[in-house]
Amino acid sequence: MTLRPIITLPDEKTLREVSKPVTAVDPSVRNLWDDMLETMYRAPGIGLAAIQIGVPRRLVVLDLTKDGEEKKPMFLANPEIVWSSETQSDYEEGCLSIPDYYEMVTRPSEVKVRYLDRQGNATELQASGLMATCLQHEIDHLNGVLFIDHISRLKRERVLKKFTKAQKLGKL
Ligand code: NI
Repeated sequence: MTLRPIITLPDEKTLREVSKPVTAVDPSVRNLWDDMLETMYRAPGIGLAAIQIGVPRRLVVLDLTKDGEEKKPMFLANPEIVWSSETQSDYEEGCLSIPDYYEMVTRPSEVKVRYLDRQGNATELQASGLMATCLQHEIDHLNGVLFIDHISRLKRERVLKKFTKAQKLGKL
């Protein structure tokens, strides 16, 4: 397993890329998942999409367990939302690609997601709460969408400007 650098704003060119499906869950996919997981744990974070380490494949890792609990990593290939609830809920979201920025985001409170698991088996998962939010956030990444796209334009422009400025000042 190798730690990979995480792509952050203002690198929208990479983060806005639409990732391509994997054709099969093979050893190269599992190696990439392992690198993503190590990178995510180290950050630390609870979810990571491959594009966040610069790889435009539809791959996600998640682990919502808390500090001190036994780790329960999840590996998803080609995940897609096949159903989402009418009911919505608000969660304060953050993103490893937008460090130190948190904002409330409204999304469907429940989703059903279809994906290939680590063994390459087609799987369906119905999720609510933090898991539902996290799945939607990560699947957004695969489509080049960031959580700041779900907040007001004013707030989004402010955060983009902050990262562009930080880069110019050599602080990123
Ligand atoms: Ni994110």
